[in-house]
Amino acid sequence: MGTSVLTQPFPRVEGRVVCGEVPLEDLATEYGTPLYVYDLGWIRGRVAAFREAFEGAGPLLAYSVKANGNLTLLRELRALGCGADITSGGELYRAVSAGIDGSEIVFAGVGKSEAEIAFALDEGIYAFNVESRSELERIDRVATEKGMTARFGIRVNPNVLASTPHQYTATGHSETKFGVPWEETRALYRWALGRDALDPIGIDVHIGSQIVDTEPYVQALDRVLGVVTELRQEGVPLEYLDIGGGFGISYGHGPALDLESLAAQIVPRVVDAGLRLVLEPGRSLVGEAGAFLTRVQYVKSGGPKTFVIVDGGMSELIRPSHYGGYHAIEPAGPIGDREATTVDVVGPICETGDFLALDRPIPEPREGELLAVRTSGAYGFSMASNYNGRLRPAEVLVDGAEVRLVRRRETYQDLIRGEA
Ligand code: LLP
Repeated sequence: MGTSVLTQPFPRVEGRVVCGEVPLEDLATEYGTPLYVYDLGWIRGRVAAFREAFEGAGPLLAYSVKANGNLTLLRELRALGCGADITSGGELYRAVSAGIDGSEIVFAGVGKSEAEIAFALDEGIYAFNVESRSELERIDRVATEKGMTARFGIRVNPNVLASTPHQYTATGHSETKFGVPWEETRALYRWALGRDALDPIGIDVHIGSQIVDTEPYVQALDRVLGVVTELRQEGVPLEYLDIGGGFGISYGHGPALDLESLAAQIVPRVVDAGLRLVLEPGRSLVGEAGAFLTRVQYVKSGGPKTFVIVDGGMSELIRPSHYGGYHAIEPAGPIGDREATTVDVVGPICETGDFLALDRPIPEPREGELLAVRTSGAYGFSMASNYNGRLRPAEVLVDGAEVRLVRRRETYQDLIRGEA
């Protein structure tokens, strides 16, 4: 127990990559492949790092459930004092099932349904982060019918284009579907002040994901603080400022966001404004804490390329094919004196886009060998599907030497459950 002192997750100890104190090869033997494994010690360390850095602003650490919604993981995060950032009724269900109190939950998303809004009101969530006028009108209607008051903040689109590794993960500029144009936010708060069922308590911004520079955050924050000043002059009683998530990690090449430097710029501004800071980290809490384990089925060469065909692919880990995401891949067991060779690591799915790595130099993999795909704790399992009749993998949580199966592998029966 305690905060992890490792500087790198999944170190290689006596030639074998380990999770906590357990060799990955042992986990794969016990639970089969493909398999997701998570290091709880690393997650504890990340939560502690966030707490320490942002301490001065009394932050609500609203873990972004979409990154990895495993129930046991959510329970552990709750025990570490985290709330939740959710984006659907399903994620709300996960969060409350894990014991996260409604008062620590914020709800974002452009398409909230009436049923989802009603569910969130019943759970007494801290706030809706509202993404359009129509949505706010709908929340007003649902809350009025229920005789309840809905706390909310408007998610402002600050029109800041943050550099993210892929266009699909930039959300803070005016050509994305997210948020309310910042020129329109004042009118919306003003309208809400006249509605009994609406309680405007905050303001929100989320500019994208896997951002490694502090500057776009500070730029967005300054824009939002300008709006806060104006709103207060109009009598809007704001109490929280949510700067979203998106804090970038290193995928084994390239820098990570410097949390301390970000906090040093953000905390004083938020404290000066007398606001409570809400943070929505997802990837930055769990990403590095996960590895995806997959076994080599075949090595196919002869043509211009060598294909290492593994038993996991885009149905389990879609980031490489969907975003061109880079994940370091290496044999989980001893490498010995093997030379690196350039290969495509591909899955068994019938799609040319089914790959985990292209033109990647790795120690020449052998059939039957276990490969570790690093930095897969976020947007790995949570984006997995049953495409091609694939069974979603098991998930294992490791705490030092203790191993828990936290989701069993799916079965063929699971595949047809619910079908007529
Ligand atoms: N808050 C909001 C409103 C969000 O939309 C997101 C992520 C987060 C927080 C958490 O962002 P994080 O701290 O995890 O970067 N599937 C993509 C990432 C999509 C992110 C969607 N929104 C990927 O695998 O890179």
